[in-house]
Amino acid sequence: MQRRHAFATLAAAALFAIGATGAHAQGAKVKVGFMLPYTGTYAALGNAIENGFRLYVQEQGGKLGGREIEFVKVDDESDPAKATDNVNKLIKRDSVDVIVGTVHSGVAMAMAKAAKDSGTLLIVPNAGADAVTGPMCAPNIFRSSFSNWQPAYAMGEVAAKRGHKKAITITWKYAAGDESVNGFKEAFEKNGGQVVKQLTLPFPNVEFQALLTEIAAAKPDAVYSFFAGGGAVKFVKDYAGAGLNKNIPLYGPGFLTDGTLEAQGDAAQGMLTTLHYADGLNTPRDNAFRLAYAKAYKLQPDVYAVQGYDAAQMLGIGLGAVKGDVSKKAEFAAAIEKAKIDSPRGAFTISKAHNPVQDIYLRKVDGKVNQVSGVAVKGLADPARGCRM
Ligand code: BEZ
Repeated sequence: MQRRHAFATLAAAALFAIGATGAHAQGAKVKVGFMLPYTGTYAALGNAIENGFRLYVQEQGGKLGGREIEFVKVDDESDPAKATDNVNKLIKRDSVDVIVGTVHSGVAMAMAKAAKDSGTLLIVPNAGADAVTGPMCAPNIFRSSFSNWQPAYAMGEVAAKRGHKKAITITWKYAAGDESVNGFKEAFEKNGGQVVKQLTLPFPNVEFQALLTEIAAAKPDAVYSFFAGGGAVKFVKDYAGAGLNKNIPLYGPGFLTDGTLEAQGDAAQGMLTTLHYADGLNTPRDNAFRLAYAKAYKLQPDVYAVQGYDAAQMLGIGLGAVKGDVSKKAEFAAAIEKAKIDSPRGAFTISKAHNPVQDIYLRKVDGKVNQVSGVAVKGLADPARGCRM
């Protein structure tokens, strides 16, 4: 009886092994789970990321690392309260091989925890939460976008060098807003400026009037703000509507004007922002990307589309190195760590903490574009405070 039981166990184990390698050898599809906002103030950002990701996969004939890619998706609604349930739908219900998401920093932190606990590969194609490549960093977590600190720090330097001394900051009260303000303040104050007041409102609230009245009364030299998506459209319009843009320049990371200019119109003209992408780079790589994106989607790409495209490139590099075998996590990570990613933004590398080391551009709004006007900080690496890997 015992021998029969032992035999049955061995046979089951052998069948499992054949099944597992067999699935890989027969070229079963790699399952990618998009966890992105498809509704709410960040919906356009989520769609652009998915478009960019799919474009790169299409350019590779639908395969990365020799394996076909299939997609499942979850709308995370940019709601941190639903994030753990949502990410577990992908990990436990759908058994995805890789998660690609998300936009909102609060949601991304819950995803990073679930990815770290389960060992599932995670590529973050936007959310800048410093913790994701800081205290929460892990061998299976990568980011194709930025840390909230990066474009903010660059703008702190730019604003101080432009001679501004006293600034007010205004943002949504959550990780991205707080960290963006901290990055700006760090560089601004290091270079002789002072942040005299920090204003906030809850995410995704867009009732800005009372705070704009406070800014008008305080008369700072400059205002720094982090908003994105639908909220950025409304904020830039309300700022101009209150007449503040005539006397108090409004600065921010490029999310304030990326993918939003059509709707912001005159209100955004002349604004300076800092970001790891810009219009008018005019490199063969970016021109080819922009043409392909416009052809595929009848839309101009923005920074979010680039980050989605590059998330797919990073997945392709990792899968290529392990010949499609996602179980080889160490080799997958090593390949990305030593790669130079041929991004439309300009080539970049990935830091030890798995965050892009990249140029941050200074851009100026001109009509419907964020025209590049130079490099604000070259090869900027996030300090990755708290990352032990
Ligand atoms: C964030 O939550 O990290 C974020 C959202 C939109 C644009 C940039 C950053």
